Formats: sequence, C-alpha cells, structure tokens
Amino acid sequence: MRDRIDETIAWRSDNPHLSGNFAPIGREIDRDGLEVISGRIPEELNGAYIRNGPNPRYEPVSYNYPLEGDGMLHAVRFASGKASYHNRYVRTRSFEIEDNAGRGVFGGLMAPRPIEPGLLGPHDDPDNPFKASAFISVMHHGDHLLALGEGEPAWEIGPNLETLGPWTAGTDQPIMLGAHNRVHPATGDMFALSYDIERPTVLIHHIGADGKLRRSFDIALAAPSMIHDFVLTERHIVLLIGPAVFDMEAMMQGQAFLQWRPELGTRIAVMPLDGGTVRWFEADAFFVYHFANGFERGGDIVIDYVQHQKLYLGYGARNTEPPMLRRLVLDTHSGSVRAQTWFDRVAEFPRIDDRLTALASRYVYAPTLTETLVSAHGASGTFNCLMRVDTETGDVVHHDFGNHIAGEAVFIPKGEPANAGFLATYLYDPETETSELVLLDSEGIEDGPVLRLRMPQRVPQGLHGAWVPA
Ligand SMILES: [Fe+2]
Repeated sequence: MRDRIDETIAWRSDNPHLSGNFAPIGREIDRDGLEVISGRIPEELNGAYIRNGPNPRYEPVSYNYPLEGDGMLHAVRFASGKASYHNRYVRTRSFEIEDNAGRGVFGGLMAPRPIEPGLLGPHDDPDNPFKASAFISVMHHGDHLLALGEGEPAWEIGPNLETLGPWTAGTDQPIMLGAHNRVHPATGDMFALSYDIERPTVLIHHIGADGKLRRSFDIALAAPSMIHDFVLTERHIVLLIGPAVFDMEAMMQGQAFLQWRPELGTRIAVMPLDGGTVRWFEADAFFVYHFANGFERGGDIVIDYVQHQKLYLGYGARNTEPPMLRRLVLDTHSGSVRAQTWFDRVAEFPRIDDRLTALASRYVYAPTLTETLVSAHGASGTFNCLMRVDTETGDVVHHDFGNHIAGEAVFIPKGEPANAGFLATYLYDPETETSELVLLDSEGIEDGPVLRLRMPQRVPQGLHGAWVPA
C-alpha cells in the first residue's frame, strides 16, 4: 500500500456540487475513540458503516454530479462500545494516471477527451477517454469488499480501506460491474449489471455466494442506455430502461454524449432467473436512478422506487417536478402497469433492510428536504430529513434535522428483535462546517438520533454506503 495522502485541496470551485459540503477533502486519516456528542454506542454493534462518494482530488476539467469524481471511502468501525474512523481514496488506474500527472487529465463523461499518450502505461487503452474511479457505492459479497462505479471494473478493498486491485470474481480478468448489485435471498448469489456506452446491450452477471462468476449474458436494447440500478425478485430480474441514451455521433457534433430521448419511452424488461424468454412492457418516458426493492405477489411484480420525470444533469438543469418515492405494480399476465405515489415531495436514495432484498419488504427509508434547512445552496442531492414509509399503511414518520444536511440512510440490523435496526447517515452542519455520524432507531425515527458521533474531519456529501459486519 502506498503512503497515505496528507494534503489540502487547494483549488476552489463555485459549482454547487463542488462547494459547501460537496467540496472534496484531501487528507486520509485514522482516528480511534471517536467522541460521543450524545447517546451511547450500542455494545452489540460489531462492524463498519462504509460510505463511498465523489471526491475529486484535482480540479476537474468538467464536472457533472453525480457522474464523476475520485472515489473516497469513509468508514466508522464499531467494536466493544467504541468507534473509530478511517478514510481512503479508491486508487483505481485512473486515479494513478492523475496521481502521476499531478493534475486532472480526464475530460468527464459528458465531454470526454483523449488522454495524452505520455501519461498512459503499456496496459492502458489509448482509445478509452473515460475515467474509471469507483466513486458510487460499496458492497460486501463473498468475503470481498468492493468499491463500485458504473460500467468499469469493481475495485477490491482491503481491511484498512486500501485498494487491492480490480476484482476478477474468480476469472482471469477484471469484471465490469455497475454500482448497484443485488443478492438473492434464497441462494445468496449476486446479480449485477454492466451497461455499454457504445453498443445497445447490457450485460448481466450471475456471481455465486462464493464470489465466483457463474455466467454472464446479454440483453439487447434499442440504444446504448444508462441503467443505474435494477430490480431482483425471487424469480426475475426487472430492468427499467429510461430513454437516457449515449450518442457518440451527437457528441462528435458537439452535443452532450448522454441524451434524453423521451420519444423512446421507458421500456421494462422482465427476465426469468431460470433463463426463460425476456418479456418487454412499455410505459411513458421516466427515469429511475434507484430502486428500494421489488418482489413477487401472485402474478404481479411490485417495485418501490424513486421516479424522475426526466434525466436532469448538472446544476442549472432544475427539476421542475421533484423525484418522488413511488410504487409500480406490473401485472405480468395482462402487461398492465399501475403506479401510486408514497410521498409527494422530493425523495431519493431509498433503502430497505437489505436482508429483505427481493422479498416483501414493508418499510422504505429515504431522505427528503424541508424548509428548515436554511443554509442550502441549491445543490441536488441535499436533504435534511429522514423518513420511514410504511408500504402497508402508507404512513410516513420522519425526523427533521433542521439546518443540517443528511444523506442516504443505511440499515444496520440489530439482532433482536429480528426486524429491528439502526439507520446510519453522516450529518453536516453548515454553520460550523463539521460532520457527525448519527444513528437512529428504525422503529423510532421520529425520536431523533440515539447516537451522535463527532467526526474528526468533515465528511463530504457522498452517495451510497453499506454495513459490513465484522
Ligand atoms: Fe446510485
């Protein structure tokens, strides 16, 4: 492992997704004995809450949140009633290239540009201008801890958050994975997808509970499409393919590489896990970044997710209709699609108790935004309130953090009772520019945090996290 980085980020940007709590940090540190602000560290917690997020080290040539940045992992480990903190960059090959150059060299997903040949090594592809930086999520599977981006190798992470190298899943070459992968409740096998930005196809991987690749297969699409997440049920994989299309020709003519083409509609693919024929359903155009969960109910497939009216990219492209938490019910006999809204204000980053993936899960946990956040500066991905939605009753309970910025909440199983847990998220105070880790009781969100831990440095606004039992 290379020396740790102890540097200050010197560059500044007015981009709302690079300033405030979105501004990156430069130091990699380790601290034991985190200070308890209030509450008590649960003695029974034994593991780590690890979260990934974009943390561009060098000033980007162009920047489109949430598509770019260097991955940085932040971990809070719990053991014997004590907590410690560590953070590390994900040292992908793209990170190394910029580390060697001492500056940002990649042009970004929307405006890629060739990399100067002198910066490339013998194994780098001179025709690939895209940065692979594993900044989106983190996952534990088959004793492998993985930092994940999208359509790029998964990067295996060691026990001290050191980057070990590209993961091969037991094959002889790095395996390309997306950021969101799901584990089957009966077999423990992982299903993963990797879309292609040049060809109209998406690759599905079936990886055993042992972390070894079982098989991979293609699904043909109408156009090269961005597919950020998918649904796994007990018997199916379901893809919702919104018309977010990669268009190389448009890019050559100076337009954006990623285009929104609503005339294509949103197409829903239902693929049996036993290898049967893919069935397609059509819907009006909408876009989904994230699914909370999906499951079978008789002949229906029930999907809880966040619906965007279209794909908005970059600051200034303001969402006129906020992304909302919804349920979609797909009747696989008639092909009809029904939808309902759980909550009619902004929500994103929905999560469940991951042990219920592909099963009938009752509760969805998601952050939302209220008017008590007065120091917001308009960046998307900014929340200050955490809610639990009961999909049996429609009831919503919440805790409003006031003028503090929260993110995705990760469910940490408690042990007893079986369905109980804590919700973990980092919380940022714009007044003091400091961060906390908070735990809430999943059964009593409205009571506020049961634990507040002071972070030894600011933890920038990130994307997805995971609970990794010790
Ligand atoms: Fe995501």
